[in-house]
Amino acid sequence: MKVLAIGDIVGNPGREMVKNFLDKVIKDLEVDLCIANGENSAVGNGITRAIANELFDAGVDVITLGNHVWSKKDVFRLFEEKAKIIRPANYPPGTPGAGYVIAYAKKQKVAVINLSGRVYLENLDCPFRAVDNELKALSKITNIIIVEFHAEATSEKVAMGWYLDGKVSAVYGTHTHIQTADERILPGGTGYITDIGMTGPYNSILGVKKEIIINRFISHLPEKFEIADGPAQFNGIILEIDESTGKTTSINRLIIK
Ligand code: FE2
Repeated sequence: MKVLAIGDIVGNPGREMVKNFLDKVIKDLEVDLCIANGENSAVGNGITRAIANELFDAGVDVITLGNHVWSKKDVFRLFEEKAKIIRPANYPPGTPGAGYVIAYAKKQKVAVINLSGRVYLENLDCPFRAVDNELKALSKITNIIIVEFHAEATSEKVAMGWYLDGKVSAVYGTHTHIQTADERILPGGTGYITDIGMTGPYNSILGVKKEIIINRFISHLPEKFEIADGPAQFNGIILEIDESTGKTTSINRLIIK
C-alpha cells in the first residue's frame, strides 16, 4: 500500500496547498492512506474543528499534532468526538486525546502513532518507553505501524529510527519544517527520514514572515509571529509498504512548489 505523509501544514497557505494538490497527488500516486501534521494549520498554531474538517474533506485520513496541540481549545472537542486526530503518545497518563489511531487502507488496519521528542521541547514522558508501551498492544492488531516523531533534535530522531527498526513500518520526523534528504530503508525494513518538511509559505522562515524572525534574532525583542504570504510549497513523503510483512519497500520525498 502507499501512504502519503504531509509535513507540517502552516496556516492558510499550507491549507490551500492541500486543497489544491492533495486530490491530484492521491490519484496520480495511487495513495491509499494520507496522514498530515496539522498542529500549525490554524492562525497562531494549533487546529480548529473547522480546519480539521477542511483537511479531512480534502482527503486527509489521519491528522497528527505536536507541541502546539493545546493552542486551540477546539482540540478537546475533536478528541471527544474521536475524530482521527492524535497527539503525542508520551503526554502523561490521563491527558485528553489518544497517542495512536487505527486507520484503514486497502481493507487493512494501519496503526499511526504520534510521539514528541524531549530535546529542546517539553519534558514529556520518555518517547522510547511510550512507543514500546503502545507497540505492546498495537503489534497484536496489525503489522503496519507508522510512527511520526515530532521532534527538534536530529540525534533524537535518528535514535528513534534505529530503536524502532524492524519493529514498525516507518518512522518519520516532523516539527523542524525543513525537509531532510536522508530518506532510507533501515536494515530491518523500517522506512526512515529525519524530517518530511513543511507545507506552507515558501519565502518564509519556517512559515513565519522572514522580517519578523530576522528582527527577533537581531533585536531580541518579542514580536508577534505572522504567517508569511506569497508562494507556498507542499512537502511530504510517499511510503510503499508491503502489506504482508509490514515492511517499507520504498520511501520517496515529495516536493511541490
Ligand atoms: Fe511543532
